[in-house]
Amino acid sequence: TLPAHVTVKEVGPRDGLQNDASFVETEDKVAWIEQMIDAGAAYIECTSFVHPKWVPALKDHQELMQMFKRRPGVTYAALVPNMKGLEGALRSGVDEVSVFMSASETHNQKNINKTIAETHPVLEEVIREAKAAGCSVRAYISTAFACPYEGTMAPETVLKAVDPLLEAGINELSIGDTIGAAAPLEVDTALKQWVQHVPKEQIAMHFHDTRGTALANVYAALQQGVTTFDAAGAGLGGCPYAPGAGGNLATEDLLYFLHRQGIETGMDEAAYLEAAEFILPRTTNAAPGKVLLASRGE
Ligand code: HMG
Ligand code: MG
Repeated sequence: TLPAHVTVKEVGPRDGLQNDASFVETEDKVAWIEQMIDAGAAYIECTSFVHPKWVPALKDHQELMQMFKRRPGVTYAALVPNMKGLEGALRSGVDEVSVFMSASETHNQKNINKTIAETHPVLEEVIREAKAAGCSVRAYISTAFACPYEGTMAPETVLKAVDPLLEAGINELSIGDTIGAAAPLEVDTALKQWVQHVPKEQIAMHFHDTRGTALANVYAALQQGVTTFDAAGAGLGGCPYAPGAGGNLATEDLLYFLHRQGIETGMDEAAYLEAAEFILPRTTNAAPGKVLLASRGE
C-alpha cells in the first residue's frame, strides 16, 4: 500500500547547480529558492560549504545564506564535507547539515580526496559537533547502486559505510543513485536489506534520472515503506566527480507522479513549473524534466 503523504526534499540549489558550467548569480539562486518555497517546498538544500576550487559554482555559499528572509516551517540545509565546512554552515545559521561519502572507495577518493577509512572519523566529528550545536544531520551515501569507476555496488557496501555514521547519531540517511543507473528490482532488493538495519522512517532515497529509471525507482521504494525523496527543481544536476551523472529526478516529475497516485506532498505543481522556467535559462547544463516539456506544449 502507498503512503498518504510523502516528504519531498528539494536539493536543486545544491545538487542541481554544483556542476553547472555557468555561475548562476547569487540573486537568481535566492529568487529561485524563494519561488520553490512559495510553491510549498519546506526543505531546501541551499548550497555546499565545500572548497571553492573543487566546486566553484557554489563558492558564494556564505553570502547566499545571508540573503534569505528565513521563513518559519522551512528547513534551510547545506552540504558540508568536514569541520571547516561545518563551521561556515553554522555561522550562516543553517537548520541542518548534510555530510556525504561514497559506498565506493574510488568515488570517495575522487570526490573528497580521502579513503573511506579516513572519512569516517572526519564525519563522526562533524556529526557530533553539529548536534552539540543544535543542528540536525543528514548523511548521504553516494554511488549506492553503481559507481562510475567500480561498477555495480553490493547493498552491503552501503551498510559498511553507514554504520559509523548511524552510531554517531545522524537523523536521516539519504541513499544516492549518483549516476542514475539503478532499476526497480535492484532498489527493491537493496532496500529489503537496508530496512533491516536502518529504520525506514530515517531513510530518504536520492535518485538521479540519467537513464530514465528514477520514477520507477521511487515506486519501488514506496512499496518498501520509504516516504522521503530528494529531487531537484527543473531536473538540474550531476556530480562534478562522477562522470556521466545526469540530472536529478525533476521535482515537477515527482510531484506529478505522486499527486496522481493520490499521495499528497503539500507542494504546488503549477507554481513549481514556473520556478523551473525561471532557473532553466540561467543555467548551462539544462535537462528539463518530462512534465516541464509537456507543459510547454499545452
Ligand atoms: P582537500 O584538498 O583534501 O582538503 O579537499 P584539505 O583538508 O587537505 O585542505 C586543503 C585546503 O582546502 C586548505 O586550505 C583548507 O583550509 C581548505 P589552504 O590551507 O590550502 O589554503 N578547505 C576548505 N575550504 C573551504 N571549505 C571547506 C574546506 N575544507 C578544506 N569545507 C575537500 C577536501 C573535502 C574540502 C574537497 O575535496 C571538497 O571540497 N570536495 C567537495 C566535492 C563535492 O562537493 N562534490 C559534490 C557533492 S557529493 C554529490 O554530489 C553526491 C550527492 O548528491 C548524493 C548522490 O547523488 O549520490 C550528495
Ligand atoms: Mg546527487
